[in-house]
Amino acid sequence: MELANETTVRELAATIPGAARIFERFGIDYCCGGERSLAGACSAAKIGVEEVVRALEQTSAQQEERDWQAASLAVLVGHIVEKHHAYVRTEIPRLMALLAKVVRVHGQNHAELEKVEESFRALAEELSMHLLKEERMLFPYIVQLESAAKSGGRPVPAMFGTVQNPVRMMMMEHDSAGELLHKMRELTNGYIVPEGCCMSYKMLYRALPEFEADLHRHIHLENNILFPRAIALEARAA
Ligand SMILES: [Fe+2]
Ligand SMILES: [Fe+2]
Repeated sequence: MELANETTVRELAATIPGAARIFERFGIDYCCGGERSLAGACSAAKIGVEEVVRALEQTSAQQEERDWQAASLAVLVGHIVEKHHAYVRTEIPRLMALLAKVVRVHGQNHAELEKVEESFRALAEELSMHLLKEERMLFPYIVQLESAAKSGGRPVPAMFGTVQNPVRMMMMEHDSAGELLHKMRELTNGYIVPEGCCMSYKMLYRALPEFEADLHRHIHLENNILFPRAIALEARAA
């Protein structure tokens, strides 16, 4: 496998099944900051590029993960909604409650907790609207685009013009979510739990990076696979 240094992390994540999980493990930003080359991203994350290449080669040999470039867009959309949107909706109320509890008990001694709560609330509000826009507007159009292409018909014109318009908006919202996640990671010093803290604190600092990892995978599937494929499909139908 050729992992040229010029290939961007985003391209690798989009073409090698399982790569996103590896990047997550090494702390490599493959989602909003995915424009870097692998070598550049590894030096930013202060890790050896050889180690990452080895892990990528192994996962590529195992092919454990589904190749989303080969799946239909309808199946990919279904996967995003059933797995990632459902996860966000379940986790938001649970994490908000957990945050409120930890802030109440430890907020006085750990001033950063209130800021984490504020950022998470902003993220939760943005995401709730974002998921609805995708599910009610963009995703049905993409599925319709694909079924029209399969049946040889023409897609019904969308009220938003080209698919590139909502895609651009969704990607801006992804960037904003990425910034809030980044801010929370900074505030918590990479989710390192302070000495002698309670169980809820530990649970919170375990759940927040899990939420971050899931959102990274979710945004990656949209930005790097679903959206480019939908734009290409629309261009072919024109
Ligand atoms: Fe989504
Ligand atoms: Fe999205």
